Amino acid sequence: MTIADSAAWRALAAHAEVVRPAHLRQLFAADGQRFERFSLRQDGLLLDFSKQRIDAETLALLHALADAADVEGWKRKMLAGEPINHTEGRAVRHMALRADEREPLEVRVVRERLHNFCESIHSGKWRGFAGEHITDVVNIGIGGSDLGPRMAVRALAGHQLPDLKIHFVANVDGADIAPLLARLNPRTTLFVIASKTFTTLETLTNARTARAWLLAAAGRESAVCQHFVAISTNLELTRQFGIPHNNVFEFWDWVGGRFSLWSAIGLSLALAIGWHQFEQLLGGARAMDRHFLDARAAANLPLTLALLTVWNTDFLGASTAAVLPYSQSLSLLPAYLQQLEMESNGKQTDRDGETVGVATCPVLWGEAGTNGQHSFYQLIHQGGRTIPCDFIALRDSDFPLPGGHHAALLANCLAQSAALAFGQTAAEARAAGVPEALVPYKVFPGNQPSTTLLLPALNPYTLGQLLALYEHKVFCLGVLWNLNSFDQWGVELGKQLASRLTPLLEGSGDDTAFDASTRGLIAALRS
Ligand code: F6P
Repeated sequence: MTIADSAAWRALAAHAEVVRPAHLRQLFAADGQRFERFSLRQDGLLLDFSKQRIDAETLALLHALADAADVEGWKRKMLAGEPINHTEGRAVRHMALRADEREPLEVRVVRERLHNFCESIHSGKWRGFAGEHITDVVNIGIGGSDLGPRMAVRALAGHQLPDLKIHFVANVDGADIAPLLARLNPRTTLFVIASKTFTTLETLTNARTARAWLLAAAGRESAVCQHFVAISTNLELTRQFGIPHNNVFEFWDWVGGRFSLWSAIGLSLALAIGWHQFEQLLGGARAMDRHFLDARAAANLPLTLALLTVWNTDFLGASTAAVLPYSQSLSLLPAYLQQLEMESNGKQTDRDGETVGVATCPVLWGEAGTNGQHSFYQLIHQGGRTIPCDFIALRDSDFPLPGGHHAALLANCLAQSAALAFGQTAAEARAAGVPEALVPYKVFPGNQPSTTLLLPALNPYTLGQLLALYEHKVFCLGVLWNLNSFDQWGVELGKQLASRLTPLLEGSGDDTAFDASTRGLIAALRS
């Protein structure tokens, strides 16, 4: 039996027939308390979901679905360390990375080592091969070993320590690493090789290039230990790469790559903002963990976000969703959430090996406001598709300036969510003096569902809250769709094919096993 066969799902399907034709204008007109009814406050955060196309019954039925899917039971299994990542036989324990006194011993040991390492870099005690202190850190990693620290370093630019520049290299394309190396000084550069498996083609290719670049300047192999540290679960492969054991910060197979910012993978962030502020990030996430685990369902932020996604995806037919942070500092959040959400829940095979049978993770995309307004918002307003939007805004700017920057930013955020919800009728366009010939073009259908999340400010603590909020949302969605959110088999086939194609593109081997299109492209590339 799939979730779509459950009584709770069928009740929602019947209810959707009633709600679907309703316009947000009507829903707001019918209920003067709508904002109070459909908003939640938690530890400084405000989640306004009154502009979602729901009524009180929708919410009650969605919560009944969460009960039917046993979200509470799955939480307990995750906490108890059961191997809920069943296809890999692994527990899912990223919350242990930010636990307080109850953190596992191995977590505490690595945390202390990371803390000491950060101090030695910041104090200048750690020296390069020529005796100079480190001025530049290059994180080499991809996916979960890149997106989290990269996004967070950008997000916390206002909290960065001076005198240490942090760079990120992910793409195997030489155009990523080459221009960076060209402007760095090997005597003062530290490479952080971040790879859970230490087998990832992109990361190892870039790491080898970085090592060759360093050795060309240093002239001796021993310089590697002053300029390379690794973060991995695979201590044998880090050793084979030539990184001494003391320079390796371990994490564990129970940390999923896209949930790993809180582990040693966060090192480049900790170097950017200092250990104390990194701990504040952990503290924010820990507070969200407590809320997620303890708050009743109706007040639970992550569960609410997940239920709204199911509603929009499976009952209102939205196949995409936009993440729209009105914060330049959060401009990489959409890319981060793309991996978190789509690599976790972009699946159709359920926990029992059956087809889920309903639409799962929407295609996630987005851009910092206001930039997106001058690009793709046209389509959200008048393109005829249902596109749920997450607006994220900061009450206080992280870069306050005179001249009205922040008020303009926030005004645009509120303007967009209102315009998307309520639109503009032909009569309103006429009343505003629009010439008759243009009236059809000035009609905005509205009824576009959105949620607005207000943060008091952007700092390590609130960023921790925000990211943990989305992590737990992803967990709840996996439970609701009966998916394992913690594997990613869908990335494997392309990796295997690429390893077979590389020698062909380098000029050797037999291409007859490939299709005509691939053979044609190989020939064109070789010619
Ligand atoms: O290809 C997908 C993936 O396995 C992600 O899940 C992961 O975050 C990324 O590659 C990087 O993997 P690693 O940290 O092992 O290099």
